[in-house]
Amino acid sequence: MRGETRGFTDLHSHLVPGVDDGARNLGDVRVSLNKMWQAGVRRIITTPHLDGSLTRDRALFAARMDEMDEAWGRLVELSKEEFPGLALHRGHEVMLDIPDPDLSDSRLRLAGTSFVLVEWPGLRVPPSTGPVLERLLSSGVKPIIAHPERYRGLDRGGNMAGEWRDRGAFLQVNYASLVGRYGDLARRRALGFLERGWVDLLASDFHGRPHLSPSLTEARQAMADWGGGTQFGLLADVNPKRVLRGEDPLPVHELFVKTGFWDRIRGAFQSRERW
Ligand SMILES: [Fe+2]
Repeated sequence: MRGETRGFTDLHSHLVPGVDDGARNLGDVRVSLNKMWQAGVRRIITTPHLDGSLTRDRALFAARMDEMDEAWGRLVELSKEEFPGLALHRGHEVMLDIPDPDLSDSRLRLAGTSFVLVEWPGLRVPPSTGPVLERLLSSGVKPIIAHPERYRGLDRGGNMAGEWRDRGAFLQVNYASLVGRYGDLARRRALGFLERGWVDLLASDFHGRPHLSPSLTEARQAMADWGGGTQFGLLADVNPKRVLRGEDPLPVHELFVKTGFWDRIRGAFQSRERW
């Protein structure tokens, strides 16, 4: 888009201070925004955790949102002051701990669009996922499923993720998964999704602590090594920017990742690193 700031758009992170397991305070926020900036991120939709069940309890939900609004205000203030070139937007990562959360509050959606970042509870695929997604879609919500490569209970080939996508959901893979930081299985699944052209978006899921990193630069390098520069541009730049504008992500061409012996050894080694 003409006049738009260059740089990456990241739509999954935990940078609102003190509200979840991400950034704890403004000190963490400062370090984290700097890491995002250094990685080339210029637009962030940050997504604190929220249990979907909370949306069905009016009083608890209102109290939680008050807390979020206050902490969000502090984040925005610091960002404007110290990172004036960074555009900040808000959303949530909604845990689908009930089958029918009320996602009508625009603060739950990514930058107020129809897109909502969702995750299955306990990093485990529940017994029935199709009807949950159908319900969201029929209520006008476009679900983006966070880190499908990380769930326990997903079939080995990850075909269930393809079914979620066939129903109309979008898949968001974490940068860190591509470089093995969640283990070898998550990495192999992420690569398998790339090979089938199922990945719609890449994001950091950066938890805003000083010992962590967004992993964008490492993932970018890995994708370039695999000959996937074009796909990376779509997944890290074009498609997240489209979501920010309320437009569906563009299809991304399959990327066959040929991993060699040393690459697999490195993947197994990195999977043992603390994350
Ligand atoms: Fe997350």
